[in-house]
Amino acid sequence: MMKEKSVFVCSRCGSTTIKWMGRCPECGEFGTMQEERAAPSSISSQHRIPRLSTHTHPVPLMGQEATGEVYCPTGIPEFDRVLGGGSVKGSVVLIGGEPGIGKSTLLLQACYHMARQGQKVLLVSGEESPAQVQMRARRLGTLTENLLLYCETDVEVILESVRKVLPHVLVVDSIQTLFVPEISSPPGGVSQVRECALRLQAMAKEMNITTFLVGHVTKDGSLAGPRVLEHLVDTVLYFEGERYDSLRVLRSTKNRFGSVSEVGIFEMSDSGLREVSDPSTLFFRNRSQGISGVSPVLTMEGKRPLLVEVQALVTPTNLPVPKRVASGLDRQRFNLDLAVLEKRAGISFSEKDVFVGVAGGLYISEPALDLGVCLAVASSKLDQALPAGWAVFGEVSLAGEIRPVSQMETRIREIKRLGFSAALLPEHDDFGSLEDGFQLIGVSTLVEALDKCGLRRR
Ligand code: TYD
Ligand code: MG
Repeated sequence: MMKEKSVFVCSRCGSTTIKWMGRCPECGEFGTMQEERAAPSSISSQHRIPRLSTHTHPVPLMGQEATGEVYCPTGIPEFDRVLGGGSVKGSVVLIGGEPGIGKSTLLLQACYHMARQGQKVLLVSGEESPAQVQMRARRLGTLTENLLLYCETDVEVILESVRKVLPHVLVVDSIQTLFVPEISSPPGGVSQVRECALRLQAMAKEMNITTFLVGHVTKDGSLAGPRVLEHLVDTVLYFEGERYDSLRVLRSTKNRFGSVSEVGIFEMSDSGLREVSDPSTLFFRNRSQGISGVSPVLTMEGKRPLLVEVQALVTPTNLPVPKRVASGLDRQRFNLDLAVLEKRAGISFSEKDVFVGVAGGLYISEPALDLGVCLAVASSKLDQALPAGWAVFGEVSLAGEIRPVSQMETRIREIKRLGFSAALLPEHDDFGSLEDGFQLIGVSTLVEALDKCGLRRR
């Protein structure tokens, strides 16, 4: 009998070596090489590569009009927004997220809405029993005809039933529980995940079935299983949020059919996920006026303006290396902002611990947050509150200048809509007719911004 060969597969990038290595030679990650039985060489070749077109020769691109309805709404507008207008027929969407964040809940709710619109939906669960799924569906009020449930983990058996049932939409929860019998390594391993996803993708393209795959995320935030999964699918979405907070954000990191800058915002309630259509009012409750170290900042998430509250705390320290703690924003940028404040505005943070965070559990990576961070930190250090009724935005350069940011008009309108009396923003020539009864305070340097806020440096 032939001896079964082992290979070592990197759980991050999917590359293989024949000997164990402490560091993946391909992606350079440490401690990711895991032993697996080598797949029989016949597997991948025997597996059918999907035919993407019925043409046998090249054709002009111009004539290739998409026929019929391409975007199919999922019935959850926040979900559709992230997908770029709805799910695309025959596309494969991967939804990643930490366990317990609400992936199964979101998809069950989406299944319900799609089934209600007359689409045949097949939900394959490899994690929960029929009774469990049914119990959840009853609680969420998502029991409906046209929604079929199949609890199975063998991919070939699943594909067989897909061929029989011919659904419009297939949901697989989760890809890590599936397996192909020909590969002897356990489900969730790199080769199993890759092979299962390949077969499902081939089926999606061949039979024009919209497929949603759930993928678990490891502790460090990457999708368990190989990166190759991300190349394979059309759209990669991440469902994020703080475990102990009800807020959830759906983000796309790859989308062949839409922009990746849109986010969907949900709130987890006892009756499932609820959409949040006016997020500014959720993140900013305007209770902290008159308190030092707080600044309301207008950021953009995609095309959507969002008002958040940056909070800072500067306290004396006895530690030889003072603490610099940032939550909800980039630590590197925060350190730069501190350095600029110190050098350009003469506010020193030596012998001080500095904590800064975005209230509400959101992560903001936009440069327009800079000015708000600087003002919140300076306000806490000097123990003086910012003027009441002001909101700010602007990028701070290393030279201490305030740089203009994108979509200034949209931001100003949102600040006005939310009832603020003034906006402190980068100097700009033309604000047109925006200024009726509302104060626009343009600043070109950080020092000027501090002065306008009345933050007096001693
Ligand atoms: P779930 O969708 O099972 O998460 P995932 O599939 O990503 O692992 O969500 C589980 C969490 O959501 C659980 O901690 C409880 C919470 N939850 C609610 O708060 N309300 C609800 O109506 C439901 C269904 C879940
Ligand atoms: Mg789940």
